[in-house]
Amino acid sequence: MKVRVETSSIVTYQCDLIAVNLFEGVKVPTGATKAVDKALGGYISKLIKNGEITGKKEEATLIDTQGKIPAKRVVVVGLGKKEELDLEGIRRVSASIIKTAKHVKAKKVASVVHGAGSGGVSPVEGAQALVEGALLAEYHFEGYAKVKEGDRFFRVEQFVILEIAPEKARQLKPGVEKGSIVSEAVNNARELVNAPANLVTPNYIARYSVAKAKEVGIHCKVLDAPQIKEKGMLSFYSVAKGSDEKEKMVILRWNGDKKSKEWLGLIGKGVTFDSGGISIKPSNKMWEMKTDMAGAAACLEAMIAIAKLKVKSNVLAVLPFAENMPDGRAQKPGDVIGSLSGKTIEIISTDAEGRMVLADAVTYAKQLGATKLVDVATLTGACTVALGDVASGIMGNDDYMIEAFKRAGEKTGERVWQLPLYEEYKEYSKSDVADIKNCTEMGKASASIGGLFVQLFVENTPWIHIDIAGTAYLDRERGYYLRGATGIPVRSLIEFISNV
Ligand code: BES
Ligand code: ZN
Ligand code: ZN
Repeated sequence: MKVRVETSSIVTYQCDLIAVNLFEGVKVPTGATKAVDKALGGYISKLIKNGEITGKKEEATLIDTQGKIPAKRVVVVGLGKKEELDLEGIRRVSASIIKTAKHVKAKKVASVVHGAGSGGVSPVEGAQALVEGALLAEYHFEGYAKVKEGDRFFRVEQFVILEIAPEKARQLKPGVEKGSIVSEAVNNARELVNAPANLVTPNYIARYSVAKAKEVGIHCKVLDAPQIKEKGMLSFYSVAKGSDEKEKMVILRWNGDKKSKEWLGLIGKGVTFDSGGISIKPSNKMWEMKTDMAGAAACLEAMIAIAKLKVKSNVLAVLPFAENMPDGRAQKPGDVIGSLSGKTIEIISTDAEGRMVLADAVTYAKQLGATKLVDVATLTGACTVALGDVASGIMGNDDYMIEAFKRAGEKTGERVWQLPLYEEYKEYSKSDVADIKNCTEMGKASASIGGLFVQLFVENTPWIHIDIAGTAYLDRERGYYLRGATGIPVRSLIEFISNV
């Protein structure tokens, strides 16, 4: 879908669907809504009077213009209470416009910027949110069916933001630009996560990263299996060795602030398929484990976006990619494994593989000069049990970073909820034969135990850990997301990096 700003009156604009709005409780429309109402002979006012249009949140009323204006249809979207409208509200309104467009097969859609100037939303941020909601809602995974028939293959082709005053239209453009870059990053991450694991192998994603990095001019290096082993990343290697697909480590660097020596290290879990290994998962829903590289995909696409946005900070991404499979060479429960840090790990479950690939990636990021760390991982089913698909878990050793990431989550609508890393939990994963067990048998506080495992390798470097097991992939439609990958937390990462 192409997105642009045009300077035009909404009343005279030729397209398949135009979107105007109403705040809850407003009886007499103003602005663009008033102009359209007038052109339609007061029809919108009539519907308001009859109580058919109330302006309530997520209400969308479709009207056929019957040739009274060039646009074929009008949708009046409810904005809810004026003082409550925020960026997330605008994204959801935008999504409801796109859903309406898909419903009536409107290829060209035009909209005003909704509610800008109310509830502390600036026009430029309002435009960004409008674009994000539209692009995120329009995305769907095409898949590989030979016969591409049915509603899900319909695509809205153009989304035009209309502003009649040329000066105001110019002001909206940076927001539209940013919204487009950010949403493209999210949708590219979703595409990688939705794609099957027989396509998105470590080798595939390494090549993809090299090509993408080249396009935007960021430094990219790939370590292959012999180099990974030679460097001593035994924990990472141990997960990968049960698969015929060779592991890869992708390293990306964006040097946006040449004067600073601070480097933020982004580490993403890139398990391209998690069968559980010898501690094999039940076959029911095992296919969903093609999404176990969502953390790495999010970090990768966030890097591409910050390069496009020319963000003024230094960011290093370390992305370990491997497949977790059972095989004659696979790691076994009871094995004791070394790591790049020198610390040893006793394997209790080969299904707790994410933290093992993160362990070496964290150590390597520190060796490469990272002074702060963020890791993103589909780490624990327990995080999903606690928070569902509505919030990601956040843990860490640095309150400033935790608060900054929470703020980013508030702004982007990608909610995070903090879980504790209590000292007492460390008792649970004490090993008789190694520095740590990779998990416990009892399954208590599993999300926190996963976080504490990563912390052992982070040591005292300021760090946050984002567990996206519940939020990376939805089994139902929610807001501007269809069923499938969400690309969470690409937008929060970009926002966080732009502000710390
Ligand atoms: N990839 C899974 C976690 C997961 C579960 C992601 C559901 C997305 C949806 C991870 O590798 C895993 O298997 N974790 C185990 C840890 C346990 C063995 C301590 C889990 O959560 O059961
Ligand atoms: Zn696992
Ligand atoms: Zn996993």
